[in-house]
Amino acid sequence: MNKQHITLNINREEYDVVVTDNELLSNVIHDTLGLTGTKYGCGTGECGACTVLVNGDPVLACITLVTAVAGAEIITIEGVAPAPGKLDPIQDAFLEQAAVQCGFCTPGMILVAKDLLVRNPHPTEEEIRETIRGNICRCTGYTSIIRAIQQAADPTICCQSKP
Ligand code: FES
Ligand code: FES
Repeated sequence: MNKQHITLNINREEYDVVVTDNELLSNVIHDTLGLTGTKYGCGTGECGACTVLVNGDPVLACITLVTAVAGAEIITIEGVAPAPGKLDPIQDAFLEQAAVQCGFCTPGMILVAKDLLVRNPHPTEEEIRETIRGNICRCTGYTSIIRAIQQAADPTICCQSKP
């Protein structure tokens, strides 16, 4: 198996890694670099748990060769927060709306929501449902996730849902 030296830009930091030609982005992020927020579910592009952003677009890391994203700007869930000790508004909304149970789907959900809100700051419920269509959650029933994304787009929703 051929090995090569590549540089990855992940969460605004550069990582020099040696990889094999067929190594997957999910393995390098999770196992080699220890960024364990990126989850590995199905391994076949079906569940969305391994989603990361590559040049701003959601990408399934379990079916992406790491060599294909050398030099690209990669954001994992660890890089979403704006500063140490702060959360992204989407992360805050997920907590406030109790949209996290086991948490396995959460990084992927937050990253696809991030992409959506950059492209479309005021999505309809239908547009949110369409966005998370490829991300499977076994715990929440999706309602709280949709509400969290709505809250991230419109913080007044936070207060409407509280007793
Ligand atoms: S682990 Fe990548 S889509 Fe399921
Ligand atoms: S919170 Fe468990 S899979 Fe979504």
